[in-house]
Amino acid sequence: MTDASRTPLLEVRGLTTIFPTRAGPARVVDDVSFHVDEGECLGVVGESGSGKSITFLSVLGLVRPPGKVSAERMMFAGQDLLALGERARRAIRGRDIAITMQDALTALNPALTVATQITEVMLAHDRAGSMDEARAAAVEMMRLVGIPAAAKRLDDYPHQFSGGMRQRIMIATALACRPRLLIADEPTTALDVTIQAQVLELIAELRRELRMSVVLITHDLGVVVEQADRIMVMYAGQVVEEGAAREVIEDAAHPYTAGLLASMPSLDTLDRPIHPIRGQAPMPGPMPPLCRFLDRCERTTEACRKSVPLQPIGGGRASRCVWAEEVAHG
Ligand SMILES: Nc1ncnc2c1ncn2[C@@H]1O[C@H](COP(=O)(O)OP(=O)(O)OP(=O)(O)O)[C@@H](O)[C@H]1O
Ligand code: SF4
Ligand SMILES: [Mg+2]
Repeated sequence: MTDASRTPLLEVRGLTTIFPTRAGPARVVDDVSFHVDEGECLGVVGESGSGKSITFLSVLGLVRPPGKVSAERMMFAGQDLLALGERARRAIRGRDIAITMQDALTALNPALTVATQITEVMLAHDRAGSMDEARAAAVEMMRLVGIPAAAKRLDDYPHQFSGGMRQRIMIATALACRPRLLIADEPTTALDVTIQAQVLELIAELRRELRMSVVLITHDLGVVVEQADRIMVMYAGQVVEEGAAREVIEDAAHPYTAGLLASMPSLDTLDRPIHPIRGQAPMPGPMPPLCRFLDRCERTTEACRKSVPLQPIGGGRASRCVWAEEVAHG
């Protein structure tokens, strides 16, 4: 829940990322605004291609040309990220804001041992004075993320670990500098169910222990309902709903969120029949000025044939639907 008396740790307004496509420029992140408070977990959900990863890669300055990123405001811990040069931004990345990428195998460098990858981050950001100190801290990090025989495995390569262990190594690498914000992009998608639960519990524990803020990007609403304080739902590059996690899950204020909930078998605590959302998300490319969910929505009327803004609906919640209040309470 937004607390007006506190300055958010991360505040982003009007973030837009455009990639050229054959059909024309695609706003794959389109005027996205959000904040993450100190110590809070923000869940970011949406189907594949909705712009979840690119949103946060854009914040970190990791989108490569021809991708173009712009924003009205991007503040982190009182610093204006838009005013910082690439060097200063790189210093924040990894040290104060860490990201674990979706695919651990490609995100970790296969040619470097685990020790090298973790210690490099620490030494690069002056979080360790010497190699010995960095190695000792790396062992501690590996222990913290639950890697058995951490000291012995320090000089192994990523391919020598299982998928679940690689995910943990990536988390250890991300946490090596004790960041204030961890962006965990689908940290569990590639893992089997038991390991998924362990990795999520680990992130929750570290959040408590290190008093870290977390952005948890996931397809799985079941994951966010357990972990997140607030949820931001993305569809076709836009935020379509946001609010306190429990409230969004129990009383969705956008037909897309309601559709996601209805299609989630993992939400077995809620007594709902399972219905997939009909149709498909629009292809990336120029979009007409209409509600982007129009073709898939079961509530469409003439009133929806216009560009629909994200509107506050009270209690820190917002929805991009002409029927927002009715959808939430009907
Ligand atoms: N380098 C690129 N060039 C062109 N389009 C891109 C590029 N990277 C991503 N996109 C497009 O941007 C859109 C958003 O991608 P993004 O990876 O953020 O989706 P996502 O919500 O994270 O999906 P997933 O759940 O599959 O990870 C997609 O349509 C994708 O095809
Ligand atoms: S604005 Fe209309 S088409 Fe869009 S989500 Fe709401 S009801 Fe559906
Ligand atoms: Mg992604």
